[in-house]
Amino acid sequence: MKNIRNFSIIAHIDHGKSTLADRILDITGLVSVRERREQFLDKLELERERGITIKAQSVRIPYKAADGKDYILNLIDTPGHVDFSYEVSRSLSACEGALLVVDATQGVEAQTLANVYLALENNLEIIPVLNKIDLPSSDVPRIKKEIEEIIGLDCSNALEVSAKTGQNVDQVLERIVELVPPPQGDDNAPLKALIFDSWYDTYQGVVVLFRILEGSIRQGQKVMMFSNKRAFEVQSLGVFSPEALAVKSLGAGDVGFMTASIKDLTDARVGDTITTADRPTPQPFPGFKKIKPMVFCGLYPTEPSEYEPLKASLEKLQLNDSAFTFEPETSQALGFGFRCGFLGLLHMEIIQERLEREFEANLIATAPSVVYKLETVKGEEVYIDNPSKLPDPTKIKTFFEPYVRMDVHVPGDYVGGVLKLCEEKRGIQKDMRYLSTNRVIITYELPFAEIVFDFFDKLKSLTRGYASMDYEVIDYRASDMVKLDILINGDPVDAMATIVHRENTARIGRQLALRLKRAIPRQLFEVVVQAAIGNKIIARERNAPLRKNVTAKCYGGDISRKRKLLEKQKEGKKRMKKMGNIEIPQEAFLAALKAD
Ligand code: GTP
Repeated sequence: MKNIRNFSIIAHIDHGKSTLADRILDITGLVSVRERREQFLDKLELERERGITIKAQSVRIPYKAADGKDYILNLIDTPGHVDFSYEVSRSLSACEGALLVVDATQGVEAQTLANVYLALENNLEIIPVLNKIDLPSSDVPRIKKEIEEIIGLDCSNALEVSAKTGQNVDQVLERIVELVPPPQGDDNAPLKALIFDSWYDTYQGVVVLFRILEGSIRQGQKVMMFSNKRAFEVQSLGVFSPEALAVKSLGAGDVGFMTASIKDLTDARVGDTITTADRPTPQPFPGFKKIKPMVFCGLYPTEPSEYEPLKASLEKLQLNDSAFTFEPETSQALGFGFRCGFLGLLHMEIIQERLEREFEANLIATAPSVVYKLETVKGEEVYIDNPSKLPDPTKIKTFFEPYVRMDVHVPGDYVGGVLKLCEEKRGIQKDMRYLSTNRVIITYELPFAEIVFDFFDKLKSLTRGYASMDYEVIDYRASDMVKLDILINGDPVDAMATIVHRENTARIGRQLALRLKRAIPRQLFEVVVQAAIGNKIIARERNAPLRKNVTAKCYGGDISRKRKLLEKQKEGKKRMKKMGNIEIPQEAFLAALKAD
């Protein structure tokens, strides 16, 4: 049996995962990842020349335990958000155990719970660790009780630590050695290694992080990806400790990285199995799936000249994020742009933010849409990620929309508000558990489309930030959905078409028309905004023509003021999109599409 322990840390944001990891590295004599990252930033270029960028926090920790034996502890990092639950589940399945870190001043949060379930599904040994006991507001007995009630995990021996001061962190290491089962697996069996992370390095190509379940892997060896049977020669093989250390070979139970002149991230997908062509494993690691984007939106440059640079930026982003997709799209209203697909809302936000930062140009993003499923009258199954691609209603037999199952953790005072919000969003209540007056878990099934817009913002504001939530897409359900068109002076604005539930058409139609009317600056002629379902107009708003000259306000002919005003107008123009003879500011699209 090898003296290896593979574990990860499950924690809610800010509960102290990184601090605990750093402290563990400190007491085992390794440079902390944070410190290293700082150093890394200082000498970025040098580092690049020397080798491999370190993205993941996965790290190999040599440790001499109290029993006098030498162990290798592999800490495997997990991404922190619900959108990446597939990656989290793959990282967890590379481990035999997990530390469940809970802030002893806070308690268990929705997302922690979701990750604990993933760990339990993977049969991991879970070790509860109560953190931040140095803080006077920590309440260890209450949090222990909470973990026992919510998760059903015995906490009588739970570790009580301060990752900040280092108090009792040594016990964490001993507990890992004691409780986390050593990996099983035969070094001489056919190679079977699970990819749990991969990223693109400019100089090395794709770097693959893997856990060997069976067999071994050597430098120079030919390996094969199970899913697409593509073969690669292992160029460099190593472990992060935390700097990259080259090794000649790795065996069953080991965690390591390789580079193999892999150019494309899609050849090293998370969840895929690495094996060899001449002696393939009979059975790949189960559960591999190509993750599919669930939320789509259009991204358009405001100037046609920005199309190519935007394309280059999207390509660059995709290099490191195979879950992000894009393809060219043309809109009558917005011109040439891209239809982009994301795992979820957070993923979308992250990418939009990055683009804005790196690309430094104005972008118009259309309202996000989920992926609908249709059964046509001909009996075909069609997936629709763009409302403007919806076929004629007479060709649709049944409309299906994706549903999510959502857990909201909330203090008792806010239960009423949360229930009301979920009901408004066509939710079906599934469960409600009072753990204490201070903590209630509410479970709902809701249409994904209903939470795509502004559910989180609303939830946060109505609970003053106290709610935490987690969701996963569960299935498709038949639903009475229709396409809602928005027309400006009789012309449909394709970028503003949305799919809505029939019950909501009147309300949303009115809202969109009114908001768009308000967002469009008045013109020298009349502007009529309408909402329509098919040929039926369900809402109408009108902007009367503008009579006054814009500069008329500048009494007294103060030329500098006049110039300022005109310049301001010019500035405004940059962000405008011409639609027929009407200029629409980019903000108008989003403003109009945000529900109340
Ligand atoms: P993300 O990186 O955002 O996922 O958060 P995290 O879970 O890694 O938390 P992190 O380690 O960054 O800690 C969050 C904050 O809590 C930081 O300000 C830490 O200094 C603080 N913190 C962590 N552990 C302790 C502790 O034991 N005691 C006290 N007082 N503060 C702590």
